[in-house]
Amino acid sequence: MHCSFSLTLSLLLLLSLLTISSTTQQHGKKNLQPNSMEPSELETLFKIMDSMSSDQTWRVSYPNPCKPGSSWMGIECKAGNDSHLHVTRLDFGSPPSPSCKMNSIFPSLIFHLPYLQSAIFSQCFTHTKTTLTISLDKFFSSKLQQLSLRSNPALIGSIPPQISTLKSLQTLTLSQNRLTGPIPKEICGLTSLQHLDLSYNFLSGTIPNQLGSLKNLVVLDLSYNSLTKLIPGTIGQMGMLQKLDLSSNLLTGSLPNSIQKLNSLVFMALSNNRLKGKIPKGLAKLQSLQYFIMDDNPMFIPLPAEFGALHRLQELRLANSGYSGTIPPIFSQLQNLSTLSLQNNRLVGSIPVGFGNLSHIYHLNLSRNLLGGEVPFTSTFFQRLGKNLDLSGNQGLCLSPSEAYGVKKIGVNICGINKTTSLSKPLKHSEAPSLGITKLFFLVNVFFILFLQQILF
Ligand SMILES: *[C@@H]1O[C@H](CO)[C@@H](O)[C@H](O)[C@H]1NC(C)=O
Ligand SMILES: *[C@@H]1O[C@H](CO)[C@@H](O)[C@H](O)[C@H]1NC(C)=O
Ligand SMILES: *[C@@H]1O[C@H](CO)[C@@H](O)[C@H](O)[C@H]1NC(C)=O
Ligand SMILES: *[C@@H]1O[C@H](CO)[C@@H](O)[C@H](O)[C@H]1NC(C)=O
Ligand SMILES: *[C@@H]1O[C@H](CO)[C@@H](O)[C@H](O)[C@H]1NC(C)=O
Repeated sequence: MHCSFSLTLSLLLLLSLLTISSTTQQHGKKNLQPNSMEPSELETLFKIMDSMSSDQTWRVSYPNPCKPGSSWMGIECKAGNDSHLHVTRLDFGSPPSPSCKMNSIFPSLIFHLPYLQSAIFSQCFTHTKTTLTISLDKFFSSKLQQLSLRSNPALIGSIPPQISTLKSLQTLTLSQNRLTGPIPKEICGLTSLQHLDLSYNFLSGTIPNQLGSLKNLVVLDLSYNSLTKLIPGTIGQMGMLQKLDLSSNLLTGSLPNSIQKLNSLVFMALSNNRLKGKIPKGLAKLQSLQYFIMDDNPMFIPLPAEFGALHRLQELRLANSGYSGTIPPIFSQLQNLSTLSLQNNRLVGSIPVGFGNLSHIYHLNLSRNLLGGEVPFTSTFFQRLGKNLDLSGNQGLCLSPSEAYGVKKIGVNICGINKTTSLSKPLKHSEAPSLGITKLFFLVNVFFILFLQQILF
């Protein structure tokens, strides 16, 4: 008994000792919770803030910028497994992010922040001309996943080939700056890229062939630049692509056949280039496509029936492009179509009867073509589209008198009434009786002339 008692006692003692030691260990761990930055990283951050922040006393106001609670809007920090806090995100410019000081220039020191994952500067470099300079510390590989420089009118110069050293980049947005020169082919080494947006700059030269190696790309936007020559066939290798925007460039040639492989594509815009016919036969394979926007190109081919097979289409814009022939009746199978723009082409024949059944159509512009025959729409259809229906500038089109009743002016004649005798616009209800008066007036005139002839001769 005695012996077992002392055993119990010593066991209890041991247990309590264990508990005490474990609590002190926990306390020790708490003390190890990172709350400070490495001095070198902190100094780099201060230098960046000195050059960017409109708050001149930043260094004094935020001596410990990563410390939870004291942290500043434009900065995000995370604890590393090295018992320090590290800057992972810098976000300057448009609200709610802090604004940049007026004369800020691009802080290439950001590439020396070893844990930085996102750098965002918009409406930041507005007065002092500055360039995108990338110099990487050799000792670490960049963790930068997002670099977004948007709407910086003073950001000039070219995209440096050193961009390829930012191996972790997933998002590269350099939109609405004043960047010039070519797209460096080195960009194609950034194989983790998912979003590449270089739109609204002054980039020239060709779209690099190597771009096809960006197999993870979901968004490619090169619109509003001065890119020339062909769309490279390698574009068909970007199997993940959902959005492709090459509008408003100087691209020539025709759409490459390989485009048919982009079966995830939802949005394709090619407007305002110098692209010529043909449209690839395999276009119909793009079964995810919802937007096909290709106005203002010198296509000069018969309107391809292939578009009629893109069942998900919501917008189809093919205006000002010299399309000829008839509107393929298969277009009326695009049941989800809400916008169809075919104005300013050379289309002949009649409007497909099925168009009146397009239940989602909201905007239909067929103006300035050579269409003819009776418009196959009911007055309900006219009322639903209202001003968003434009059939004007088609000499041969006419409205059946029964449907025209009550339809506001849409620039189409009434069937069976000759231009010379009819008004050049369809009749409003209130105008209808005046026609009778005109006719009566005409008859009176004829009789009067006959009467005069009788008298004079
Ligand atoms: C953090 O831990 C991971 C593995 O858990 C290791 O690969 C990495 O090198 C460590 N980083 C630092 C800064 O210690
Ligand atoms: C049409 O749109 C509806 C609603 O957005 C959608 O559920 C349907 O799948 C679409 N049809 C096609 C063929 O894409
Ligand atoms: C349009 O729909 C009506 C009924 O909703 C149908 O009778 C007619 O055949 C359809 N017309 C065409 C051309 O699809
Ligand atoms: C149709 O296109 C013409 C020519 O581009 C344009 O002037 C007109 O405003 C358009 N109409 C509608 C309703 O969008
Ligand atoms: C319209 O004019 C043509 C000849 O220009 C004529 O043959 C036809 O009968 C006229 N139709 C009507 C309804 O006046």
